[in-house]
Order: sequence, then structure tokens, then C-alpha cells
Amino acid sequence: MNRLISLKKIFKSFSNNKKLIVLKNINYSFAKGKIYSLVGPSGSGKSTFLNILSMIDKPTSGSLLINDTLIDFNNNNENDKVRANKIGIIYQQNNLLPDFTALENVYLAGLALSGDKDNSIKKAKKIIKEMGLSLREHHYPSELSGGEAQRIAIARAIINEPEVILADEPTGSLDRNTAKEVFKVLYKLKNKSRLIIYATHNRFFANMADCKLEMIDGNIKTINARNK
Ligand SMILES: Nc1ncnc2c1ncn2[C@@H]1O[C@H](COP(=O)(O)OP(=O)(O)OP(=O)(O)O)[C@@H](O)[C@H]1O
Ligand SMILES: [Mg+2]
Repeated sequence: MNRLISLKKIFKSFSNNKKLIVLKNINYSFAKGKIYSLVGPSGSGKSTFLNILSMIDKPTSGSLLINDTLIDFNNNNENDKVRANKIGIIYQQNNLLPDFTALENVYLAGLALSGDKDNSIKKAKKIIKEMGLSLREHHYPSELSGGEAQRIAIARAIINEPEVILADEPTGSLDRNTAKEVFKVLYKLKNKSRLIIYATHNRFFANMADCKLEMIDGNIKTINARNK
């Protein structure tokens, strides 16, 4: 298996008043070149799981390997670098910076990594064009429709050509047709060296994936896997 991300004995618990064990001994490897969907009831731990994959949160115990390199969850500087270089993240709410235009939102993510403004603008314009949104480049997020904003959020997530794309209910706040458009864009990003994982509550979109996973009792179960 051409694995890109592996998890070993991952546990995650939260302790507020009472200890809540959300992830219980997850062992799983994700292959490059594939798209995975993650389903499961609200509160089952999908976001918690994706936040560990993106190193935004750390597990209570267990290990995460990206490209066979063991992640040290205490090394924030290094993990910020790994995230900026390798991982594109898309949330349900697009999280665009409200005071910046669509183009600025996208190219600033490129500039932050490369330091090359001209090239980042060029790349951002190209991606925005591929998303069919050239005419919206100079719109502020409040001047974009939900679907347009989400496509700009995807553009921002991919400007640094990440090997991994993680999407947490990327169409959760969109109507069905707009959601279909956004998934079309997401699926076009599939390539043989890239891994895409998205959480969704929508059965139709979940079934499009090469491999459908379900979060059950704090663990990941493979529902079906297609070879393609
Ligand atoms: N920071 C936190 N502190 C305490 N409990 C938390 C924290 N984050 C999440 N939880 C709890 O962990 C459980 C899993 O939450 P998570 O957000 O991962 O679920 P989810 O599967 O993404 O749900 P949804 O489909 O509603 O997005 C929930 O019971 C939630 O209340
Ligand atoms: Mg969630």
C-alpha cells in the first residue's frame, strides 16, 4: 500500500467535568491517490479525528506518521511547516479573511510559504480561473455566494499544491446543487500522489469516495472500498 498517513493506537479524550473518550485505539493507513469519505453521527469524533491529522490538535496517546515520518506533537514550529507545505484544509464555514478580496485570500496563502508575491498572484489567478471565478477576484467574502466562497476557500487550500487535502463538511452549509458543484471541484483535485479525506453527513457525497469510512464507537470502520 502506498501510504501517506498512518495512525497507530490513537486515543483522544477530553476532560472537562467528566472524561470523554472520543477516539479509541485507531489504527489506520491512508493511501495516496485515493479519496476517502468519513461519515458518522454528530459528536462521533470526525472533526476531532481530522484535527489530529492536520496536527491542529494532539492525541492523548498514539502516533501519527506522515510520509513515514513520526510527528512530534510538541514541536509546533516544525508541524506548522509540515502543515503549510503538505496539507490543505477546508472547513464547513469558509473562514476567508473578511477584509481581503478573493484574490488576496488565495495569493496570501501562497506568499506566506514562498515569499514570492508575483508568482503567488499568478498562481492564485490561474486557480481562481480554473474554479470559474475570475470575475469574482476582487470581491470581498461578503460579496460572494456560499458556493463561490467555498470554491475560493478550496483555491486557498490548494495554492501550495498540498499532498493532503482535509475537508470537514465542506458543503455542510450549501444547498444540494451548489454542494454538487463544490464536490466536482474537489474531485478534480484527485491525482496519483495526493490524498483527499472529507467528512460529510450526506450519503450521496460519501458514496462518491474510493473508500468510505465510518466513525463508530470511537473507531474507524471501512464501509466499502473500491479499487480505482
Ligand atoms: N475541545 C473540546 N473539549 C471537550 N469536548 C470536546 C472538544 N471538542 C470536541 N469535544 C467533544 O468530542 C465529541 C466529538 O466531537 P467532534 O466535533 O469530533 O464530532 P463530529 O463527529 O465532528 O460531529 P459533527 O458531525 O456534529 O461535526 C463531542 O462529544 C464533542 O462534544
Ligand atoms: Mg464535525
